[in-house]
Amino acid sequence: MHTHEIVDLFAGPGGLDVAAAWLDIPVVGIELDENACATREAAKLRTKQGDVRDSKPGDFPNANVLAAGPPCQTYTVAGSGTGRQDLNNVLSSAKRMANGEDVTAELKRLSDPRTALVLEPLRWILEAIKDERPYEAIILEQVPAVLQIWAVMDEILTGLGYAVAHGVLRTEQYGVPQTRRRAVLIARRKDKVESDMALPSATHHPYRKGMPRPEKSGGIEPWVTMGEVLKRPEPFTVVSNYGTGGNPRARGERKSTEPSATVTGKISRNRVLTDGIDSRFTHSESGLLQTFPPDYPWRGKDVAQQIGNAIPPLLAAHVIVAALGMEPDFLKNLRADRLPLWSETMSIDL
Ligand SMILES: C[S@@+](CC[C@H](N)C(=O)[O-])C[C@H]1O[C@@H](n2cnc3c(N)ncnc32)[C@H](O)[C@@H]1O
Repeated sequence: MHTHEIVDLFAGPGGLDVAAAWLDIPVVGIELDENACATREAAKLRTKQGDVRDSKPGDFPNANVLAAGPPCQTYTVAGSGTGRQDLNNVLSSAKRMANGEDVTAELKRLSDPRTALVLEPLRWILEAIKDERPYEAIILEQVPAVLQIWAVMDEILTGLGYAVAHGVLRTEQYGVPQTRRRAVLIARRKDKVESDMALPSATHHPYRKGMPRPEKSGGIEPWVTMGEVLKRPEPFTVVSNYGTGGNPRARGERKSTEPSATVTGKISRNRVLTDGIDSRFTHSESGLLQTFPPDYPWRGKDVAQQIGNAIPPLLAAHVIVAALGMEPDFLKNLRADRLPLWSETMSIDL
């Protein structure tokens, strides 16, 4: 008998679901995109294919944990005029929803309808409370631009009887061979928490461009490099296909002795250079930089986009453990350079 079951909204190819499987927690994902669903099917992940807005907590009566990584396209432009206006509307809608008000009209005024999807987790949380089956724990993950929304969610959830923590986590500090920043919120019903809620503690040093790799100190490990995880026979340099800092000619570069830059849907366009010979990352390699198992069965179109959309499973494992107050030894032994095979985790033939 499992004590927890997760319903994962906007589940993508299964970054969070892989972590849940490692931790032996049942999970069911809701996902609209047929390509991500093709991967999920091959990976034998439980899935309801469809729009999150067409489902409700009562459809998943065994789930007592809510996880969500809503789409982020519109928030990456949150600094621009309409993005900021939409952000302000979303913040006020969240507060009004928590007061029991109908915000349908307000959300219709958003310049991009996808922006409203970030409030879907709140709809589920409020509906579950109405059903008298409040979620025991909540996990939200998004790009750093939504930190303000998570701050408002923190206030709302505190008012609803949850202990909450939120902030920006750096993936390399959790052993992911990649620098990526993510805004994370975790919450647990106050009656299920012994001490304060806290984001997971870092296990690895942060990466600083141009600074030497730090030594292990105070139990904190050096960041993990691409070379350690990909195990290519020769050292290599990754050259981004895009300019950095607004300069199209300044191509970002990372060496195999460093963590990867943020893995995005464009990772397949990066050049991987060894002694002047040009190659590309395979899907398996791109997945490994996100800590997906080496044999993860990527399927459908736009695999690079599926990979870039996901929460790195290793980060997700740390976040789930902190959200649920678990202390599994398994996590201590989970390392990006020797991830368990997916076929063995799920006992399936791939
Ligand atoms: C940022 S990704 C989440 C990735 C996921 N958390 C993971 O770790 O693999 C957002 C996902 O939401 C999906 N999506 C977008 N709109 C949706 C909707 N209305 N209902 C269900 N899924 C949707 C997208 O196809 C995409 O896979």
